[in-house]
Amino acid sequence: MSDQPPVDSRESRAQLRTMLLIGAVASVLGVVLALLIDWFPVPASTQAGPIDTLWDVLLIASVPVFVLVETIVLYCAIKFRMRPGEELKDGPPIHGNTRLEIIWTAIPAILLVGLCTYAYVVLIDIEKAQANTMDVRVVGEQFTWTFYYPGEDGEEIASPQLYLPADTPVNFTVQSKDVIHDFWVPAFRMKIDAVPGIDTHLRVTTTERMGEFPVVCAELCGLGHSTMRQSAHVMTREDFDARLAELAEGPQAGGGGGGEGETDGETLFTQAAQPTACGSCHALADAGTTGTTGPDLDAVVGDFSEEELREAIVDPDAEVAEGFQPGLMPRYGDSLSEEQVDALVQYLMEVTGR
Ligand code: CUA
Repeated sequence: MSDQPPVDSRESRAQLRTMLLIGAVASVLGVVLALLIDWFPVPASTQAGPIDTLWDVLLIASVPVFVLVETIVLYCAIKFRMRPGEELKDGPPIHGNTRLEIIWTAIPAILLVGLCTYAYVVLIDIEKAQANTMDVRVVGEQFTWTFYYPGEDGEEIASPQLYLPADTPVNFTVQSKDVIHDFWVPAFRMKIDAVPGIDTHLRVTTTERMGEFPVVCAELCGLGHSTMRQSAHVMTREDFDARLAELAEGPQAGGGGGGEGETDGETLFTQAAQPTACGSCHALADAGTTGTTGPDLDAVVGDFSEEELREAIVDPDAEVAEGFQPGLMPRYGDSLSEEQVDALVQYLMEVTGR
């Protein structure tokens, strides 16, 4: 059987060295490449810094492991492959190697314990409660988020978009009305599940960076999951206070962003309709919306009579356009007043020049 040289011959040591050298060079290249990739959007919270550093450390620790293993596998597959005439040959006999087994158990164990400890310390640190924290309640439902701010005399102020003052610690209480969703603002780096029946919490401290950042749902929650996208607006304290005052008395007050009493067709179309604004699913040039989940209204609205438009809003499943799923568009006849439906129909008639 064994006309092969023993495994610890000089030749196999040389092969091991070559393999490790190739692995080391590939690891360095891999780490450099991984660190050069721009993984995350612009950071907009104080939590982002430590998390991005944690990510880089994880890359530095894990890329060499992956690259080294792959190098050894590839090297062995090429170098020690079966050649013609060797079909019946067995490889050299290998028995247990205690030292090797201790090494390959100890190194991953130390690596894992170290990384877990580091991640735990970072998590505790970035979730520390801070003075002057603002409370925001976030409620997820198929397929929208609604944000509630504590108002005066205990009344909450509802908003279909997330508004936050810059440079402020925020404590989010996250809830769900139906299935599991996941509240995520990538620019803040933090995310947490919205679970029916319980409150989950998430702390974020905004920075000086102001602007608009996407809010997304990160848990598959149904057909409209991909449309569950809104915006976080980080603004100056003055702008924020003004916005909140506007929301408190504005058309969207009280109705969970539902626009109770709102009767302007375009406003209804873009922001007030419950549970999701028309524009998050439908493209309409006049309203500046580009949703693609539902039919492109610029293309089809002209073909609808006033009565057909009304039916499509009130009872959308009565007739579903080819290529689209029934049950995805809410029955707005249940949530909008007759007046509001009229306003939407009028608006859609107007934009098509009727
Ligand atoms: Cu809500 Cu996905």
